[in-house]
Amino acid sequence: MESRLSVWVSGSGSNLERIIQACRNKEIPASVVLVVSDRPGILALQRAEKHSLPSEIVSSKNCGSEGAYARALLELLKKYRVDLICLAGFLTKVPDEVVRAYRGRIVNIHPALLPRFGGRGLYGQKVHEAVLAAKEKESGATVHYVDEQYDHGSIILQKKVPVLPEDTPVTLARRVHQIEYEIYPQAIAQVLEKLARG
Ligand code: GRF
Repeated sequence: MESRLSVWVSGSGSNLERIIQACRNKEIPASVVLVVSDRPGILALQRAEKHSLPSEIVSSKNCGSEGAYARALLELLKKYRVDLICLAGFLTKVPDEVVRAYRGRIVNIHPALLPRFGGRGLYGQKVHEAVLAAKEKESGATVHYVDEQYDHGSIILQKKVPVLPEDTPVTLARRVHQIEYEIYPQAIAQVLEKLARG
């Protein structure tokens, strides 16, 4: 049976778009059944709407407590019978209760070569600024399982890109984004295969 994905977003959602496309052309044997956002008004939600996908906005602030936030998320996951959660630019920490309930079934993509350049505060443009400040010759993207710590769970797939002398955070981000579109669908397919084997 086809697996059911939920993609969690906070921003532009270009990885969401890529995952939807990869499901449609069978690179991933699954379909996106739910998009979860932690905020309204983002481009990713417009993309979900364009593809007629259900989306839900769940903000930890509006829930009042971490427990209530976790319960709201768990309820949705149950309602939509989600098999695998794919974080794609999701900026809120996944509550521990959700991590425990879906261990091995939550993945994230990070725009650097973990374990370096990850952790609290290292997201978006800040990652690329840090890579350039450290005068790295290479950067890349990493898909990993999500555990209780930021950007910490075991690595599923990683791919490198060169850092060029003339790079700015914007040009480096663009190069990294391109390989994210390659490795995220591959990694998701790999995880689903592993889950299917049990
Ligand atoms: C990506 O660079 C991803 O690695 C990071 O957030 C960014 C999301 O980009 N976690 P988009 O919203 O998919 O365009």
